[in-house]
Amino acid sequence: MEYKLRKAEPRDVSDILRLVKELAKYEEMENQVTLTEKELLEDGFGDTPFYHCIIAEIQGENSSDGLKVVGFAMYYFTYDPWVGKQLYLEDFYVMEQYRGLGIGSELLRHLSNLAMKTRCTGMMFVVAENNEPSVQFYKRRGAEDLSEEEGWRLFRFDKNSLVKMATPSEE
Ligand code: COA
Repeated sequence: MEYKLRKAEPRDVSDILRLVKELAKYEEMENQVTLTEKELLEDGFGDTPFYHCIIAEIQGENSSDGLKVVGFAMYYFTYDPWVGKQLYLEDFYVMEQYRGLGIGSELLRHLSNLAMKTRCTGMMFVVAENNEPSVQFYKRRGAEDLSEEEGWRLFRFDKNSLVKMATPSEE
């Protein structure tokens, strides 16, 4: 099956949100997705993009069908004070019926080229512990499990904690 990769455009936000939700469902966390298309549009395509996406699309089965978005990789750049620029892979998903065709590997190839071009020293990502197929997918391509090897733990301040710590506004 022929597929193509391209940079996401503003018109893609509904497909991006659809795939974000499918991935969240796969991770059994669908109810945690509160993001809207409007936010995706503002955050990814304004003056300061907070994320970037590569889209994978295929030609629909009938000649009258248009192109169909079947996978994506959402990423942004972060900075590691020890080694410098890093590419952060935030979401990575191919629809179930299109898996095993090489689309995921091609998305990673695209991101690896981008990382080389921008002189990143690595690509970071988080994988759910129980997502064994993906853990193995990444390991087969050389990824190291830093939780296992270096003992890092993932933390977050949620909005309530931030509000508590934030400077009270002057009245
Ligand atoms: N489903 C999944 N994997 C299959 C498969 C199928 N139906 N059929 C074969 N595979 C094998 C392939 O042989 C290949 O093995 P390899 O690692 O030895 O090359 C690998 O699984 C898939 O490679 P590829 O076709 O390049 O990737 P993909 O297009 O299937 O995409 C993922 C890979 C991880 C993006 C995709 O499996 C996915 O969306 N998984 C669910 C969501 C997920 O876990 N995302 C990552 C979150 S951290």
